[in-house]
Amino acid sequence: MFQAITVMGAWKLPENTSVDFLDLDYWVGMAQRLEAAGVDFLFFADDYGYPVVDDEVPANALRGAIQFPKGDPMTVLPAVAAMTEKLGLVATLSTTVEKPPMVARKMATLDHLTRGRIGWNIVTGAGQNASARLFGVPMKEHDLRYEIAADHVDLSLKLWEGSWDDDGLVLDRANGVFADPARVREITHDGPHFTAKGVLTVPPGPQRTPVLFQAGTSAPGRDLAARYAEAVFLAAEVPAMKEQIADIRRRAADYGRDPRSIKCLIAGTFYVGETEEEARAIRARQVATFSLDDAAAMYAFYTGLDLSSMDPDKPLDPSAALTQTGRTNVERYLGPDAPTVREILEEFQRNSVMGKPYIGDASQVADQAEAVIAETDADGFLVQPDHTGGFDRFVDLVMPELRARGLVAGDLPAMTLRERLLGEGNARLAPEHIGAGYRSAGALA
Ligand SMILES: Cc1cc2nc3c(=O)[nH]c(=O)nc-3n(C[C@H](O)[C@H](O)[C@H](O)COP(=O)(O)O)c2cc1C
Repeated sequence: MFQAITVMGAWKLPENTSVDFLDLDYWVGMAQRLEAAGVDFLFFADDYGYPVVDDEVPANALRGAIQFPKGDPMTVLPAVAAMTEKLGLVATLSTTVEKPPMVARKMATLDHLTRGRIGWNIVTGAGQNASARLFGVPMKEHDLRYEIAADHVDLSLKLWEGSWDDDGLVLDRANGVFADPARVREITHDGPHFTAKGVLTVPPGPQRTPVLFQAGTSAPGRDLAARYAEAVFLAAEVPAMKEQIADIRRRAADYGRDPRSIKCLIAGTFYVGETEEEARAIRARQVATFSLDDAAAMYAFYTGLDLSSMDPDKPLDPSAALTQTGRTNVERYLGPDAPTVREILEEFQRNSVMGKPYIGDASQVADQAEAVIAETDADGFLVQPDHTGGFDRFVDLVMPELRARGLVAGDLPAMTLRERLLGEGNARLAPEHIGAGYRSAGALA
């Protein structure tokens, strides 16, 4: 299930509860409800960006809450972890903004606090132009950000996998030995972008390394996923996702990994009602709250491009592909059947980045979802909140249908997130994962 610490869905509608996004009870209540329904994990998206056009924040981005406001998921996670037992918890930290030892320490701590239910969504980061301005640094080029990301993840993996042996934490009060210096060591990293010599100060948790998710499907994004990710978030039209998934699996095999070990998860919005008519009415209600100006601000956030200043009757100029902000939402609108700028805006008004929604009663949306899984070779869904900002209708109507079809598990005991996704006995990174190669040799003393 997909959330961010912000308003979600159609916040202007009275039934939308996500305006409570700065209230912990809101998050704890949602998490407990998802856990009771048997959902695998709750994902908190994050970035430091917001729309910026011509070096200004468009007024309608603030007025309309377009990729704004945003709170920090890291501050919400421990409360949610304390009040749940089984639900996986996944959060984004950007490799462009955060430094590797910071990511490694936060995630290692959260692995303990969640009792092995934490995942890291690796991104180079949406809203790059705004975030670079905010941090007072030049925006790094798109492909360079991905080179930095690979180096970042390598260093973090060394810290998680290489610093401690499993029995490094001794906690022998009688002999005064907290950690065994022979079984804890400094790692060294001399990469193209990060250099480090040091030890992770957090002993290993149940998973050691958080489950590694990745989002961002430009070509270097797919390569990053193939190299490191255990699960990938995708959102696009079905034929594009089919190609992206095939490409990620192909690249994974080239890296010596089992292509099926990467769980490809489609981000999808489900408008579900007791009847198809009700579902269509809900969808229409949501779409009516979002204007074409809102859509332009949203598009600018993802790409840095201002569609409202372009000729509405022409497709994007091919030079748009050179944008240094995000490319996924430029590349999907180029090519032989490229839509016009007006059509892109209309598509963003209806569906934003998410591709075609699933609309109908529970049985209809389950049929649609099954068909998309079969067509794309994906492994599952990352469900977007509906107009209410939450998941109540999905949980109440669709989960029982999916369970009846054997597509989601029944009541499961508490386990690590990695086991939940990859099966029993898989609490740690797979032996063929690049991170497993960083399991250590040599001691601190
Ligand atoms: C379901 C989904 C969730 C995402 N979550 C985030 C996120 O939390 N933070 C973020 O910066 N980017 C997120 N992204 C990726 C961005 O949309 C963007 O594509 C990426 O950060 C830039 O990389 P690109 O140039 O490869 O598109 C998400 C993408 C998808 C499909």
